[in-house]
Amino acid sequence: ISNSTACKAVRSATSVETTEVTELNWDNLGFGLVPTDYMYVMKCSSDGIFTNGELKKFGPIELNPSAGVLNYGQGLFEGLKAYRKADGSILLFRPEENAMRMIDGAARMCMPAPTVEQFVDAVKMTVLANNRWVPPTGKGSLYVRPLLMGSGPVLGLAPAPEYTFLIFVSPVGNYFKEGLSPINLIVENEYHRATPGGTGGVKTIGNYASVLKAQKIAKEKGYSDVLYLDAVHKRYLEEVSSCNIFVVKGNVISTPEIKGTILPGITRKSIMDVAQGQGFQVEERAVSVEELLNADEVFCTGTAVVVSPVGSITYLGKRVEYGNSGVGVVSQQLYSALTSLQMGLAEDHLGWTVQL
Ligand code: COI
Repeated sequence: ISNSTACKAVRSATSVETTEVTELNWDNLGFGLVPTDYMYVMKCSSDGIFTNGELKKFGPIELNPSAGVLNYGQGLFEGLKAYRKADGSILLFRPEENAMRMIDGAARMCMPAPTVEQFVDAVKMTVLANNRWVPPTGKGSLYVRPLLMGSGPVLGLAPAPEYTFLIFVSPVGNYFKEGLSPINLIVENEYHRATPGGTGGVKTIGNYASVLKAQKIAKEKGYSDVLYLDAVHKRYLEEVSSCNIFVVKGNVISTPEIKGTILPGITRKSIMDVAQGQGFQVEERAVSVEELLNADEVFCTGTAVVVSPVGSITYLGKRVEYGNSGVGVVSQQLYSALTSLQMGLAEDHLGWTVQL
């Protein structure tokens, strides 16, 4: 559907109910849930075809206690952002990439998925319905969280007989409490995020629950987050709990290759293109922990974290610091280039943004 169809759907939904206006301090946004006005819900039963999606007032949903997602973790999520442009319009960043990643993840998790068109239209509708929650330019973004879950009842282990696709949104600012300052990571030596043949390469909900323990221990010790190593050699970098990792050495920017245990980040892929366009040599390959410790600069990428510079890495009790605790030049340069595109401050020659 076109934007104007999406607008009509929003108008009809918004004429039914409006939530009380809540005062929000746009200067103080972190990465926590701010309940907004509307969510989008679409279901499909055993025929695998999603139909009759609609906007609903944001709030709790009803689930059978026997739902596949609650019992066996049959669920996926996505994350993308909507930015307010200086002229008041809204930009989405590569939403069709999220749609395609959900389709890939759904195949791995034995779930049907909305089509790319259904996904993108639903995102547009949900963002427009929550227009007033898109922060002013430069104050943050509206984080869009699509979910796909086995909502039908199961008892024996099997794919659920019914699925729900849902989108909710929340205005957000910086992901890490450090804001734009460099974060401090610890390399995890006991726990692993993913194993070959597992589901580390798709955005299934269980991948995130399984990192909580290591993350909790790290945070208690004062680290921002955990960097995982591969489960086979305990030597090659995988990713951080919520983002991908890059190391910079001279003019070469390297990041672990996609091999089923690493999330194929959309920001990761975009930064690789942006960096190449700026003359860097970009390599996707096995990156060892030794290279990490000898890097000039290290940074993380993700929808939520955008480009986050890493100030220090601790590995087996040894701490290595990068760039005199300031933001590294390369990280800063790539952050600026990416966010300028996302906010519509730079011309989008690549056709990555979708204007609402
Ligand atoms: C995102 O960056 O959008 C993610 O899905 C990571 C999540 C842990 C916040």
